[in-house]
Amino acid sequence: MTRGCTMETRQFEIRTDRLLLRPHRLEDVDDIFEFARDPEWGRYLTVPKPYFREHAVEFVEDRIHTSRELWPVWAMVLEGRVVGGIGIEIDAQDETGALGYSLARKHWGRGLAVEAARAVVDCGFRERGLAKVYAYADARNVQSLRVMEKLGMTREGTLRSHRVLRGERVDDVYYGVLKEEWMRDEG
Ligand SMILES: CC(C)(COP(=O)(O)OP(=O)(O)OC[C@H]1O[C@@H](n2cnc3c(N)ncnc32)[C@H](O)[C@@H]1OP(=O)(O)O)[C@@H](O)C(=O)NCCC(=O)NCCS
Repeated sequence: MTRGCTMETRQFEIRTDRLLLRPHRLEDVDDIFEFARDPEWGRYLTVPKPYFREHAVEFVEDRIHTSRELWPVWAMVLEGRVVGGIGIEIDAQDETGALGYSLARKHWGRGLAVEAARAVVDCGFRERGLAKVYAYADARNVQSLRVMEKLGMTREGTLRSHRVLRGERVDDVYYGVLKEEWMRDEG
């Protein structure tokens, strides 16, 4: 399932039951703009509001130039359309990875983010040699916290008033999973 997440693999693709995770391309801009302009999608994200098409262009260009070694990122493709994105920012020295994900609102509630995240976390442990994967979200972003729980991560704590999001101070909740826990639970 996770073949394709190593740097050496030219395709750099991961297939899950319903999704193809592949590198971003310039032609993804319109699909991304369509869901990213939705204020509800960006409510807890550090994204511009309002979100213009040029922001989607910048986003895609950034993703195309991101180091696959340090921050592998994938477009989530469902039935030929880009419906979200997922990535894992790697700290090679500490062997940790910070997972991030987002999905178009019209596909929420179908377990797609968990499906993508499971494949990416698995890749992080099995192919990148990570010892720990963690993720965090605005404490009010209960959907994202549920994703972390459904991945089998442990809630490790809340960093209170930890950053500013569009002028508002935000609490961040951190979750993590260790390699030995993942291997025990996911086989
Ligand atoms: C967070 C996110 C990726 C979850 O994706 P998803 O594929 O919908 O996740 P799931 O289907 O597993 O649903 C997660 C929980 O969200 C809740 N949920 C699902 N659809 C919902 C909806 N339309 N409205 C409100 N809550 C919803 C459910 O409680 C669900 O938990 P449950 O399975 O225990 O009932 C998605 O909501 C998203 O992209 N949000 C905007 C970007 C973002 O916040 N990213 C995370 C940054 S840390």
